[in-house]
Amino acid sequence: MLKECFKVNRKKILDQMEDNSILYVYSRRKEESLTNERYNVNRNYFYLSGVLEFDNVVMLTKINGKETEVIYINPYDEFKAKWVGAPFSLEKVMELSGIKDVRYLENLKMNRDSLLNVCNTIYLDFEPNMLNDLPTETEKLASDIKLKKPWVNIKNARPFFQNARMVKHEEELEEMKKAIHITRLGIENILMNMKESYEYQLESYFDQAIKYNGATGYAFPTIAASGKNATCLHYSDNDSIAKNGDLILFDLGSSVNMYCSDISRTFPVNGKFSERQKEIYNIVLEAQRKVFEAAKPGVTIRDLQQVVIKHYEVELKRIGLIKDPKEVSKYYYHGVSHHIGLDCHDLSDHFAPLKAGDVISNEPGLYIEEEGIGIRIEDDMLITEDGSFNLSGEILKTVEEIEEFMEKNKR
Ligand code: GLY
Ligand code: MN
Ligand code: MN
Repeated sequence: MLKECFKVNRKKILDQMEDNSILYVYSRRKEESLTNERYNVNRNYFYLSGVLEFDNVVMLTKINGKETEVIYINPYDEFKAKWVGAPFSLEKVMELSGIKDVRYLENLKMNRDSLLNVCNTIYLDFEPNMLNDLPTETEKLASDIKLKKPWVNIKNARPFFQNARMVKHEEELEEMKKAIHITRLGIENILMNMKESYEYQLESYFDQAIKYNGATGYAFPTIAASGKNATCLHYSDNDSIAKNGDLILFDLGSSVNMYCSDISRTFPVNGKFSERQKEIYNIVLEAQRKVFEAAKPGVTIRDLQQVVIKHYEVELKRIGLIKDPKEVSKYYYHGVSHHIGLDCHDLSDHFAPLKAGDVISNEPGLYIEEEGIGIRIEDDMLITEDGSFNLSGEILKTVEEIEEFMEKNKR
């Protein structure tokens, strides 16, 4: 259970703050402003508090070297209690977050204003905003401070979170492992029910199994793409018939307590790979193996991408698909890795050398539109002190494992 990590997370942010500064993070995200879906809270706020509730604010301060942590929450509200459930009590918030100073939101403005009189800098969590979007709460606050406290520097807190969130705490890893395990159960439920059907029908077996097994949400909308559909990377209509003889690519993931899994597997609808499908599949699988082998601290995601491209340059030429190495991009047109965590595409510095504790995807693919074949194989990879570890190694993957499982579990 998540308990210690929020304290560690706050310290990771406090350590990056300059002296005489405050950091201020809202729980509500701009795009979810009208929903009460608690799993949509701002991830940076959750990272500091572990409290799934809207309206709250976490404030960290470092004044003359002294660090403090406060969370502001809603008081009990009878109306809310009757309609959507009562907000957590002070004691509950204290227990969940480990923050000892829990106050009601009515005190927020007064406390903030008096702090702004003695500090030089405020760090705000600016979400990327489009030109035509309404200003977020954070942007409104920034304008107000500029007007009323012009001596205060306003800085973006995002880089702090970007640095901190890449390396996972042991407890965060535990949640991710749970999400991966539940995703495995969902994938196996699809396989047990695999037959020529609509893609969404196959997808529904995943939905049922992950819910049943305790997932708290989805990491992203499921992709169930058969045949040529799989050559569109973010196809998610899932409304075609997956036909016997075709492959079907599933890119899916459950989440547990906000932590995501992100897995792709590609299966033959009729339970048996054709020779050609097997040939392409094994080239992708070998690319993935090479990435596992190359991944270690100090290496960058760009280096891993090169490992895949080099492999394809040789292999696609060998099977006669390309003549010139430059043509690889016709069949492989995405990155091999991204960080995974509270977001499926987690906040991260894509160019930073990897560190032990980072969790990234390992997801090479090949997409041959003219043959109606799209294959992606994706696992979640932990960077260790001396290499990498496949967190999703329990999910069946080789041609033999897949065919055997499908044969044994035919309904
Ligand atoms: N499911 C999105 C991705 O693999 O990046
Ligand atoms: Mn994926
Ligand atoms: Mn991914």
